[in-house]
Amino acid sequence: MPTDVEEAVAVTPARTPVKRTVLMCKPEYFTVVYRINPWMDPALPTDTSLAVTQWQALYDVYIGLGYDVQLIDPIDGLPDMVYAANGGFVIDNIAYGASFTYPQRQPEGPAYMDWFRENGFDVRVPAEINEGEGDFLLVGDTILAGTGFRSDSNSHDELGTIFGREVVTLGLVNPSFYHLDTAIAKLDETNIAYLPSAFDEPSLAILRERYPDAIIATEEDAAILGLNSYSDGYNVVIASRAKDFERQLRERGYNPIGVDLSELLLGGGGVKCCTLELRR
Ligand code: ARG
Repeated sequence: MPTDVEEAVAVTPARTPVKRTVLMCKPEYFTVVYRINPWMDPALPTDTSLAVTQWQALYDVYIGLGYDVQLIDPIDGLPDMVYAANGGFVIDNIAYGASFTYPQRQPEGPAYMDWFRENGFDVRVPAEINEGEGDFLLVGDTILAGTGFRSDSNSHDELGTIFGREVVTLGLVNPSFYHLDTAIAKLDETNIAYLPSAFDEPSLAILRERYPDAIIATEEDAAILGLNSYSDGYNVVIASRAKDFERQLRERGYNPIGVDLSELLLGGGGVKCCTLELRR
């Protein structure tokens, strides 16, 4: 009789980490002074130095994992710039710029595009409203693209034209999960984790069909933006409070690494929001 451990080893595929290059932005000017998602409450106090300390811990985890972490300078007056995932979407050295939904964040679009240009990326100025990797996730050769609260579905067509990849539109329905990366976590090139209640019925049908082995997140974990995580195919950096997600990841042979970004949750963001993947 095989032991439980032998059994688990036999059914769990070997996971291979892929070294990542990511862009981050230190939250030196982080605060909550406007409300563009239900998590934000300008009446609640924020602690910028705690935000920096927590962000630094995430940065240190990435460095420890051997990632190449690039930095963009934060700009005074753009408190949400720390959520670098929204700064664009980058594949094959092509950077599709962001065009933000709300005026408060609109100046971030050009700021990120300047950084891409200065760092040798082929920048495509967007014609359509889109919030970058917050709403777009590359899984294998398919781009999963969210809409409903921020990115306009017209940007999905623009994406397809620019990157020449299949784009699958997914409709978000819960204002608390307003970006796709709050409702889906990419785990590797074939699998994801998601929160079913965040999607409309047609999108759910697509997710069930394409990802029958997906991890289904609990409402409890999603309620602290637990799905907003970043994986290299083996190591998955998650919110340390997302206990069931952590358990499910471990069961499937991933290596969950918990971090606490409670201060950045006050702006409605977590691990993934602070991380933009750069694919050369
Ligand atoms: N306060 C920011 C906003 O509402 C948070 C962005 C979170 N980013 C993300 N990729 N989900 O736009």
